[in-house]
Amino acid sequence: MNFVEVASVNEIPAGETRHVEAKGIEIVLANVEGRIYAVSERCGHQNAPLSKGTLNENIITCPLHHAQFDVTTGKMISGMVELSLSGMDEAPQSVQEAMKAIGEMTSHIKTHDLQSFPVKVTGKRIFVAV
Ligand code: FES
Repeated sequence: MNFVEVASVNEIPAGETRHVEAKGIEIVLANVEGRIYAVSERCGHQNAPLSKGTLNENIITCPLHHAQFDVTTGKMISGMVELSLSGMDEAPQSVQEAMKAIGEMTSHIKTHDLQSFPVKVTGKRIFVAV
């Protein structure tokens, strides 16, 4: 496992995330109150890009089905949120059935913890061990 330079601290203000790659591995960096953490970019549910989600303190929320993970550990906090069919009453029957089927299939997919990567900051340079 070697440390690879991936970004500068200037590129990730507190409370924000950034997608980077190190040796072909997709990683999301998160700045939690000035400290940088690195976890897998791909959601532990269905691989959505977590850097497109939202960061609230140390919790990142997936943009696709809203599973939540602790960026300081990679641990899952909560799984996906099931699709709501409210407001779909006006949609064609075929669309309602398709949405219901997708929701049922998706609800059976397990959500896993994210891989967490060691981070080292030297001056303004961020390194991640991969
Ligand atoms: S892909 Fe992230 S919660 Fe489904």
